[in-house]
Amino acid sequence: MRILEAAAELSAVVAGWRAAGERVAFVPTMGNLHAGHLSLVEYARGIADRVVASIYVNPTQFNDPDDFARYPKTMDEDSRRLKAAGCDLLFAPDEATVYPFGKRNAVLVDEPVISQGLCGAFRPGHFRGVTTVVCRLFNLVRPDVAVFGQKDLQQLRVIERMVADLHMPVQVEGLPTVREADGLAMSSRNGRLTPEDRQNAAVLYRVLAKLRDQVAAGRHDYAAIQDEAMNALEAGGFRPEYVEVRCWDDLSSPKAGRSLVVLAAAWLGDTRLIDNLPI
Ligand code: PAF
Repeated sequence: MRILEAAAELSAVVAGWRAAGERVAFVPTMGNLHAGHLSLVEYARGIADRVVASIYVNPTQFNDPDDFARYPKTMDEDSRRLKAAGCDLLFAPDEATVYPFGKRNAVLVDEPVISQGLCGAFRPGHFRGVTTVVCRLFNLVRPDVAVFGQKDLQQLRVIERMVADLHMPVQVEGLPTVREADGLAMSSRNGRLTPEDRQNAAVLYRVLAKLRDQVAAGRHDYAAIQDEAMNALEAGGFRPEYVEVRCWDDLSSPKAGRSLVVLAAAWLGDTRLIDNLPI
């Protein structure tokens, strides 16, 4: 596996692959990789001739500077795991490569609909940072297909909308969340949980699973069952931000005849967890 930091070298390698008629898949990450990320790389390996992963902790998507500063950096272990999962090229750019005119002078990409509400209501500017960096990474890598996890479902839907609205020549794929044995969604943030909070963390999954089952059984009193779920999270030691039932494909409010999903975000100690379950 090659590791490249410079945009020009990356372009030359990917252009060579494309000239040889090879299909290129891309898995963007912020590092501190877990089995969920590796499942994306393994899937990408199966649908393309070449797999590029990126590791870049993007400052513009952190609304809390402390959260950015604390984000774990585990480059050596990450590159070892990417190589084992079948990645051909790891792109690890620095800030000047991603934001050549500086992040404060950056051209921004702002998706105005799907990014509102849910996590967007609690993390102002977060999705603008995500779309801004993913657009840049797509322009740098120029993949045929990009693979994201469904755990950040709102992020996935926002990126799909960006790609469709800006006519970006890339296919976006979302893969199901990978979970620990007790149901907790894998996340780079799980490593920040205290041992006691880790024991408790799967309450989020269990509360969402109950809500999913209620909706699947035909309950339509969404406000009441969402409130029950918020109370159950509080009783389980969480500080919930939201629990909501939404349409699966665009995260709009639930409508008859559409596939639905239940989503939640909640704090456990000083760790913010998100999860969702399709119905
Ligand atoms: O999901 C992530 O890890 C990040 O939001 C992404 C897509 C790599 C953009 O920085």
